[in-house]
Amino acid sequence: MADHRQKALEFIQDHKNQSLEKMKELISIPSVSTDPERAGDIKEAAEWLRKELESLGMTRVEIHPTPRHPIVYAENLSAGKDRPTVLIYGHYDVQPEDPIEDWNTDPFTPTEKGENLFARGATDMKGQIIATFSAIDAIHQTGQLPVNVKFLIEGEEEIGGSYLETFIKDNTELLACDFFLNPDTGMQAPDLPTITYALRGIAYFELRVQGPKHDMHSGTFGGAIHNPAQVMTDLLSGLHDKKGRVTLKGFYDRVIPLGEEEREELSKLPIKEEFYLQQGGVKALWGEEGYTPVERTGARPTLEINGLYSGFIEEGQKTVLPAYAMAKVSCRLVADQDPVEVYEQFKAYLEENAPETVTWELTQMSKDFPSLSDRKSKWIEAYVKAAEAAWGKRPIFKREGGSVPVVVHVQQSLGVDSVNIGFGLPSDNMHGPNEKIHLPTFYKGIEALVHFFFNL
Ligand code: BES
Ligand code: MN
Repeated sequence: MADHRQKALEFIQDHKNQSLEKMKELISIPSVSTDPERAGDIKEAAEWLRKELESLGMTRVEIHPTPRHPIVYAENLSAGKDRPTVLIYGHYDVQPEDPIEDWNTDPFTPTEKGENLFARGATDMKGQIIATFSAIDAIHQTGQLPVNVKFLIEGEEEIGGSYLETFIKDNTELLACDFFLNPDTGMQAPDLPTITYALRGIAYFELRVQGPKHDMHSGTFGGAIHNPAQVMTDLLSGLHDKKGRVTLKGFYDRVIPLGEEEREELSKLPIKEEFYLQQGGVKALWGEEGYTPVERTGARPTLEINGLYSGFIEEGQKTVLPAYAMAKVSCRLVADQDPVEVYEQFKAYLEENAPETVTWELTQMSKDFPSLSDRKSKWIEAYVKAAEAAWGKRPIFKREGGSVPVVVHVQQSLGVDSVNIGFGLPSDNMHGPNEKIHLPTFYKGIEALVHFFFNL
């Protein structure tokens, strides 16, 4: 097997360009899951994956339709019963490309500049899908697979309410495995291989505040009719107190406090205030009193306003008293918070604080639980060694502030834990304009995956 490993590693070196070309092909399909007009592109991406998985030597490849976007499943179980089975995750959908005017190149025309490839979906997460494909391809082309491989690739990760949860519940036998490989997280820096052991959950809301039945003259009626934009901003500003804590009653009740040992470890991570200042280009940081930025984003829950709309926002002026205001608000949750309980808490807050002058409506979108993973399993150990082989460094262990909802679903329905790794960087501008992937890190990632599969 040492010889096979060597051959596979040589194979990836000789086929870097093929990996790059494959990534470009997949990225060129604008599979934006939230946009109904892109349903055809979503289908095309699923079809592209099917063909690719067939050429990787998968012996069974299926597209499972859902009421929304199809799930791609594939397997090659030729390693045999005495070898472990890994279920490799991916999502082929991407976030919308807007604001389009902020892109320097076309979001769906992958463009190489220096060491980076720019395009929507490059790092989140089509590049990571291709990294797993390239690693499996290299191993398959140079010999027998040392592990049984299953792929589960969905098209609904970036939108709330995915059908993947139901699919997993209904197909526990098909998806049975020894562990889950989730390449949808990232590395802290190009020379810092990273293992993510916690992901936050999310409760996402749309809040609509309705004032008068239609827009009105702000001079004639302002002062007599309560402005819904004002009501909205009053309500939103009441959601945090002076200490940066969320004011929803009961919000922190289920939060597992950070232990001293973990705080100590997190404080040693090479992720300091400077990192956040630099990434954001802001003058100062903000957050819950008594916690460091790493703790605030990983181990503490937060509440963000994701969007805010009311009245006239075009050029020039319009003296209008708007009919309604709308806000998108989401909470990132940590263990053991419950996203539906947070909905109840938000509703109770509105019942208590919204004035009688308006009506309001709160709808919940995402309701995903947070996850925590074992940091010492043999699968994690196999990745630690793989990362050491590829980067010459022991990986750091961190909590991630973002969410990958599937991890909890496989923990609950399949009873297996997840190895959360990936090759995206904080500077890759995930979800923002000019998203990119750092190519040297991508190639190293393929190498690490080859080592990982042999280490299992
Ligand atoms: N890959 C991200 C999650 C992530 C972000 C991992 C940053 C590591 C670093 C994932 O695709 C994502 O964006 N998830 C959404 C889920 C939501 C829409 C339910 C998120 O976190 O906003
Ligand atoms: Mn994402």
